[in-house]
Amino acid sequence: MFHHTQGLHTTQGHKGIPDGCFEEEQGRKGFSGPVSHLIKSKPSTRWTQIEGPLRPHLYDLVKLNKPQVKSDWIRLMYNNDVAMYNFLITPTTASKSHSYRNADGETLYFCHKGEGVVLTEYGMLKYNKGTYILIPKCVHHNIVPQNDSHFFIVESRTGSYREPDRGMVGRNAFYDTQAFKIPNLEEQTNWLKAHKNIYCEIHVKRNDLITQFKYEDCVYTDVLGWKGDYFPTTIHVDDMMPMLSARVHLPPSAHCTFVSHNFVICTFLPRPLESDADALKVPFYHQNIDYDEVIFYHDGDFFSRDNLHPGCLSFHPAGFPHGPHPKAMEKVKSQTHTQEYAVMVDTWNPLNIDSNMNPLEVNEYWKSWQK
Ligand SMILES: [Fe+2]
Repeated sequence: MFHHTQGLHTTQGHKGIPDGCFEEEQGRKGFSGPVSHLIKSKPSTRWTQIEGPLRPHLYDLVKLNKPQVKSDWIRLMYNNDVAMYNFLITPTTASKSHSYRNADGETLYFCHKGEGVVLTEYGMLKYNKGTYILIPKCVHHNIVPQNDSHFFIVESRTGSYREPDRGMVGRNAFYDTQAFKIPNLEEQTNWLKAHKNIYCEIHVKRNDLITQFKYEDCVYTDVLGWKGDYFPTTIHVDDMMPMLSARVHLPPSAHCTFVSHNFVICTFLPRPLESDADALKVPFYHQNIDYDEVIFYHDGDFFSRDNLHPGCLSFHPAGFPHGPHPKAMEKVKSQTHTQEYAVMVDTWNPLNIDSNMNPLEVNEYWKSWQK
């Protein structure tokens, strides 16, 4: 197809939008495919009613993190390719008896709160608030928290996590591969000398069912060394360098952190706002034409939303047009930086909402775009 223009339009997307008008992007392939920008006199978020499954949702995961909730993965959303979970683990609830192996897929833990270590067959890793912990499929491991730790987990069930294509910005964009940490076998060996007779079982999850393998000794003491390119790793948000343009708002795909089969993960981090006077400073209105969109709000002030707090999770299904909340449009005029930390999961195939989410729903979120 070729580009064409008609009526009121701009020559550069997200810039020079006529006063009182709204730009809506309609694009395929998550901001990298065919795209058009419509200049509208009113935003498409001015609905008066939404009936049917495309109604957007907001959930408050903070309600899950009560001491009486047992240490377990609580499933939030899922499809064949990906499942998301809430996981709270404390020094009291952390298992001293068994290790965990995920035979359903790769496990990406994002640490929302807490700090501690991760024992793995390959050695010890450390985590704190803002760490992604990537555990390859079928590698047994234990989270050992120093204090109460809360994780948002994204399980990749039909493919492996890999780095995003960086294209014209090159290998070091957004994060340098040197930021990935390597498990330390020697440090773990020393740690285990002080913690004897623990982790003599492995609980293996396959097809979401658990099988228990029991051993006479600790399942971490048999590895004497390893080589290869298949091992657990961590990367911290402080080692990520968000890309920006002073002149024009970049799409969410500029913040892509990991890709897997049929879904991507982006990390939104604090950064300066665009400084050109005619640049849009909030996310543009758009439909998720190809992707369902989940955002986990980790920390800071969420500049494009006015009704949520850290620990919330929003769900915007494909086909639902959205953009900044009305109050955010005003608020951003006095700001020079964003202060938000958030993790976005965009999925090609439709997501199912687990019934675990029902008591966590923030009612009437769909009305939050109304003035
Ligand atoms: Fe979106």
